Amino acid sequence: MNAEELPNKIFKVKKNLNAIILAHNYQSQDIQRAADLVGDSLELALAARDTSADILIVCGVTFMAETAKILNPGKRVFIPKIEAGCPLADFLTPHQIEEERRNHPDAAVVVYINSSAACKAAADIVCTSGNAVQVVRSLPHSRILFGPDSNLAGFVRKQLPDKEIIPIPATGHCYVHQSFTNEDILKARKIGGKIIAHPECTAPIQRAADIVASTGKMIKIIEESEEETWHVFTEEGMIFRLKTLFPNKTFYSYENAVCKDMRMTTSVDLLQCLQNLIGEVTVEEDVLQKARISLDLMLEASL
Ligand code: 13P
Ligand code: SF4
Repeated sequence: MNAEELPNKIFKVKKNLNAIILAHNYQSQDIQRAADLVGDSLELALAARDTSADILIVCGVTFMAETAKILNPGKRVFIPKIEAGCPLADFLTPHQIEEERRNHPDAAVVVYINSSAACKAAADIVCTSGNAVQVVRSLPHSRILFGPDSNLAGFVRKQLPDKEIIPIPATGHCYVHQSFTNEDILKARKIGGKIIAHPECTAPIQRAADIVASTGKMIKIIEESEEETWHVFTEEGMIFRLKTLFPNKTFYSYENAVCKDMRMTTSVDLLQCLQNLIGEVTVEEDVLQKARISLDLMLEASL
């Protein structure tokens, strides 16, 4: 089959199955083109919960497909590359959460959606990069154990100085967002325009940026702004997404910021997943029930 036939074939098989394809903003151009919805972690979670399709294909990394299954357990959920993980999510285990709870019995545990289903089950509430501040603000606790991203924890602390935010673990981070440097900021400033950075970036990059926002919020901010030139400090797939949405604006990326796991999925994998229904995601029933509570509380808090 040649490259031109592939998108048509994907479309036909998807339609016959009454399947929906959900893709994260960081997926490759081909996957973004084939998707019914492209969005950030929160948008994908909401779409997964609300869909009437029989089958959900999640193009992203495993925690996103697990989240879809937890929010809509009656559906069959597939991920074309089951080995596409998130190294940031691997920084936290349920065991660490329990240990930290014993050290800080008065604290609430907030876990970033970039975490395993078991960590979500062990937490009090989940958040995404788009609603982390809102979620933490909604809690009556003055002390918060927040993991696994220490940079996002720092972002929340800055917005909510009255709360004590303790990152668990202290150094959890995303290697892609950790790679941006001060030289990149200087290069961007020379060119002019606005710098927009993801809250997974380090504190110095967050301080130097004009705006810090999740990928979903980046789209809204850029849409509402008259600024033409944007320096985008997040994973490179986002550049394709932005260029598609705003063809008259100019976007710069830095540090070849590619998430290897996000880039694993190809159109051939997607077609094979649809045709053979391989890569089904399952979550143990008791983990699913507990994780569902943490996710539902997040969705309530971010209304
Ligand atoms: P968003 O919450 O912006 O979708 O980000 C998810 C992610 O994996 C960032 O690296
Ligand atoms: Fe995980 Fe970073 Fe990849 Fe996002 S970009 S999926 S946080 S490794």
